Amino acid sequence: MIHSIPVDPLTGAISVPIYQTSTFVQEAPGVNKGYDYARTGNPTRATLESIVAKLENGSTGIAFASGLAAIDAIVKLLESGDEIVAVDDIYGGAFRLFTQVYQKFGIKVHYVDATDAANVFNAITPKTKLIWIETPTNPTLKISDIQAIAKIAKANRCLLCVDNTFASPALQQPLTLGADIVVHSGTKYLGGHSDLIAGLVITKDAELGAKVKFLQNACGAILGPFDSWLLIRGIETLHLRIRQHGASAQAVAEYLRQHPAVDKVFYPGLPTHPNHDIAKKQSKGFGGIVSFTLKNDTEQAATDFVTTTELFQLAESLGGIKSLLCHPAQMTHKTIPADKRRAAGVSDSLVRLSVGLEETADIIADLEQTFKKLDSKKSLVTPQLAIAK
Ligand SMILES: Cc1ncc(COP(=O)(O)O)c(C=O)c1O
Repeated sequence: MIHSIPVDPLTGAISVPIYQTSTFVQEAPGVNKGYDYARTGNPTRATLESIVAKLENGSTGIAFASGLAAIDAIVKLLESGDEIVAVDDIYGGAFRLFTQVYQKFGIKVHYVDATDAANVFNAITPKTKLIWIETPTNPTLKISDIQAIAKIAKANRCLLCVDNTFASPALQQPLTLGADIVVHSGTKYLGGHSDLIAGLVITKDAELGAKVKFLQNACGAILGPFDSWLLIRGIETLHLRIRQHGASAQAVAEYLRQHPAVDKVFYPGLPTHPNHDIAKKQSKGFGGIVSFTLKNDTEQAATDFVTTTELFQLAESLGGIKSLLCHPAQMTHKTIPADKRRAAGVSDSLVRLSVGLEETADIIADLEQTFKKLDSKKSLVTPQLAIAK
């Protein structure tokens, strides 16, 4: 992969040049060097697009201004009256887009627990055109069997789109497992440094890729040349970063599992995770995100936790070198109604950790000092226990 990032053929520059231009001079109308206007195509973006297409084992890569713009482009492949079957534990922004933007254009979404492929099959109607899964999901790290769902999609003439943001292509290649489309929030592991917003679509089939490229040019949400360059730079170290994120996340999950204040730990690398075997089968590792709930399952206890850590910083997003944590009920998932959110397993005290690249021991020490501080303030005591005492 590193050597597939090209050396600049004009100058020999080892780093991909940033073509910061809006337009390209033409010799005669329509006679140009492959580029005419930078919304339609830009050499820096084109290099990024070919790198991610290779990384995901696809034919076409298309780079968008954000992950949501990438998701939006896929929904625009549909027509009014079409239906989507989507994973219930979906990224909150995708839920908002489906519900508050596309519902009024006549696109209906059925949400199912996709960890059981039979639920996906049972939700399909003659109008279903698209199956949408995230695996692992955000934030409960549920795993769906991509190969099994791809077979269902094929048998029912639906497209299967996998949001591969959490795993990254370093761990999992959905197109190889039978999916038609992969989307990414490039903002996360691909960028890797919490310094850009970007989205990617990769299609297995060139014809489908051309349709998405058409939509990108027609609607305009392109990734700029500087951010394309930053994303290439991030991708250069993806495999190393993912290895370290995964090693520390596994240690964090094991630490949390034995902590008396913790109720549930969500991490596919734990043998107790209900989908551990599928995760092991379809990906090379388990990623850098760990979620957990507290025995005191209240928003207040989670708020106390996320405001007491020192190394973990309270922020939305994930996948960067610095450890972050968030409280989905009040942050990423606040647009999902509370009953729907809880039904999908995102309980009130659930905290999501994005385990960064600090020393593993420092990461665990921060969690330990947080639990100790909260214990002394009695923040971790459940209301029932408090009454009993
Ligand atoms: C799984 C997943 N998909 C898509 C997105 C949207 O990406 P962006 O924030 O780059 O628009 C996010 C953002 O958090 C995400 O977590």
